[in-house]
Amino acid sequence: MRDKQLHPESLAAHIGVGQDPAYGSVSTPIYQTVTYQHPGSELGRYDYSRTENPTRTALAEGLAQLEGGASASLFSSGMAAIVALFHLLSHGDHVVLTEDLYGGTYRLWADIFQKFGIKATFVNTSDPDQVASAIRKETRMVFIETPSNPHLAVTDLAAMAAITHDQDCWLVVDNTFMTPLRQRPLQHGADFTVYSGTKYLAGHNDVLAGALVCRSQALGRQIADIANTTGGVLAPFDCWLMMRGLKTLAVRLDRQEANARQIAEFLARHPAVDHVYYPGLTSHRGFSIHQEQAQGPGAMVSFQLWEGNRYAEFMDALSLVLPAVSLGGTESLIAHPFTETHRELPEELRRRLGIGPGLMRLSVGLEHAPDLIEDLDQALKTIRKG
Ligand SMILES: Cc1ncc(COP(=O)(O)O)c(C=O)c1O
Repeated sequence: MRDKQLHPESLAAHIGVGQDPAYGSVSTPIYQTVTYQHPGSELGRYDYSRTENPTRTALAEGLAQLEGGASASLFSSGMAAIVALFHLLSHGDHVVLTEDLYGGTYRLWADIFQKFGIKATFVNTSDPDQVASAIRKETRMVFIETPSNPHLAVTDLAAMAAITHDQDCWLVVDNTFMTPLRQRPLQHGADFTVYSGTKYLAGHNDVLAGALVCRSQALGRQIADIANTTGGVLAPFDCWLMMRGLKTLAVRLDRQEANARQIAEFLARHPAVDHVYYPGLTSHRGFSIHQEQAQGPGAMVSFQLWEGNRYAEFMDALSLVLPAVSLGGTESLIAHPFTETHRELPEELRRRLGIGPGLMRLSVGLEHAPDLIEDLDQALKTIRKG
C-alpha cells in the first residue's frame, strides 16, 4: 500500500504518522529539546534544534511530499519564510511582484530589503506581458500570489513559468489561499511555494507558522542553510500543532469552500453589494485560468459595498462573523484591507488597485452556511442601498 501513489487527502491525514522507532507512537511526538547527546565521538543525526529537530523534520517531509516538492523548510511565520527567500538575493538584484499582494510582503521590501539594494517592480501579473516587460537582466525572482490578496486576481502559472525560465530567474508562488490540496504551483513550473502556515495549513487561528517548499534539493539546501543561519525556524510544539492541523485540512477545506460558494452567490445577488471577487463565480476575471490550474476556488471571498464609507456600521452589526485580520481558520473572519492588512501600501497604489473603504475580505469558516448568510444579511440590511 505504501508504494502506491496515495491521494493528497491520504498523505495529509498521515503526516508524521508511524515514524516513532522508540514506542510506535502514532502521532509524531513533540521533541522539546534544544540539543542532542552525541552517540560517540561522531555527531548523531541531530545536533542542535535550530538546524534540525525530529518534529520539524517529520512535518517538513510530509509537507514536501504533499506538495510534490524536493524539500520543505518550516519557519516561525509566513513572513519569516518570505524573509528567508529574499535572503537568496544580493545587492543590485531585482524582483518583480504581483501588485495586488499581501501588505506585509510589500512592507518587507519597502522597509527592509530596499535598504539593502534590492530593487522591485510591482505589476499586474494577471497580464503576462506586464511581467515580461518588467524583467531586466538583474531580475532574479518573480513573486506572485494567485489568487491574490485581497482581490483574488488570477495569474496564469504556466505563462509565468515560461517567462521566468526563459530569463533564468525563480518563480515563487505564495499559495497561502489555495493550499497544496487546491493548487500545486511546482507542477506548473514554480521553483518555490511559500505559505503562511498560520492560515489553512494549521487552520485553527492558534499558531503562527510559515513554510517554503522547494522544487529542487539544491534550492532546498540553500534555504535550509539560510533558515539555520538566520534562525527564524518553527518551534517543536508549533510544528506539532501545524501537523495536527494538516491532518484535517481536506475536510476543513471541503466544508469551507462549500460555504464560500453559497456566500459568494448570496452576496452577488445582494442589493447592498456592488461587486464580489471569488474565483468560483463564472463572472470572476480569470475564472477559466483558475479552473485549469487549481482544483477548487477556495474559501476566501472579497466584496465591495455599494456604500463603502459605511463599512464600520456593517462590521459592527455582524455577530457570528468576527471582525479580525488573518484567515483560513475554523471561525469566519472579516477583514478591512483599507485600514488593516493593506493600509501601508502607497496611497496611489491602493487607489489604482481599488483598495478603498468599501472593500471587505471574508475568510469563510466551518459554521453552518445559512447561519453565516443570515448574519451577513442582517448586517448588510443596516446599510442597504437606496
Ligand atoms: C497571502 C499571505 N502571505 C503571507 C502572509 C504572512 O504570514 P504570517 O502572518 O504567518 O507571517 C499572510 C498573512 O496574512 C498572507 O495573507
